Amino acid sequence: MGSHAEVDSSSTTESRWSLEGTTALVTGGTKGIGHAIVEELARFGAVVHTCSRNEAELNECKHEWEKKGFRVTVSVCDVTSPSERQKLITTVSSLFDGKLNILINNVGTNKMKPTTEYKAEDFSLIMSTNFESAYHLSQLSHPLLKASSAGSIVFLSSVSGVVSVNVGSIYSATKASY
Ligand SMILES: NC(=O)c1ccc[n+]([C@@H]2O[C@H](COP(=O)([O-])OP(=O)(O)OC[C@H]3O[C@@H](n4cnc5c(N)ncnc54)[C@H](OP(=O)(O)O)[C@@H]3O)[C@@H](O)[C@H]2O)c1
Repeated sequence: MGSHAEVDSSSTTESRWSLEGTTALVTGGTKGIGHAIVEELARFGAVVHTCSRNEAELNECKHEWEKKGFRVTVSVCDVTSPSERQKLITTVSSLFDGKLNILINNVGTNKMKPTTEYKAEDFSLIMSTNFESAYHLSQLSHPLLKASSAGSIVFLSSVSGVVSVNVGSIYSATKASY
């Protein structure tokens, strides 16, 4: 008997990390980190839905994803709007037969200013985009996540939510909220 555990050759990295049979919603998947998350989840076999405010960009991304063989659907949603958030989850529910495994609250925005210069509109925009949308989408997704029997929610935080970084106090407060 050897001292090392035997390696099961049938358990490849791909099979161990497979997301085949799972569903995911990634907000803000047309650019940056959200775009990379959509591709990574789809590469591991998840069926993914994503949204942003720009229909033309969504359709361009969808076309590229189709060419790569990824299963990704898209719809326009401004996550700062409660009614659009509701519509997004209704769409996701109908696409995924009422079951969602992964919600990625990725959308985020920022305006960097000294705290004394922030206006009420700045506060409202950053709070609704980063905090309120993630909170409400998590609430709305709860029945779908529960129905899947294996639901996870991911929030895109930031180092600025943990330590003092000069990127704006409102952004930092939203990132510390999750
Ligand atoms: N980049 C970093 O270094 C960094 C560091 C720490 C944390 N983060 C966090 O990571 C997340 C992603 O950052 P990122 O830099 O990848 O962002 P990004 O490149 O600016 O992309 C943001 C995505 O969200 C969409 N979006 C923005 N506002 C939206 C809204 N109101 N409704 C729907 N979609 C909206 C954008 O599309 P449209 O504008 O076309 O709608 C885009 O697809 C954010 O939560 C950010 O705070 C980023």
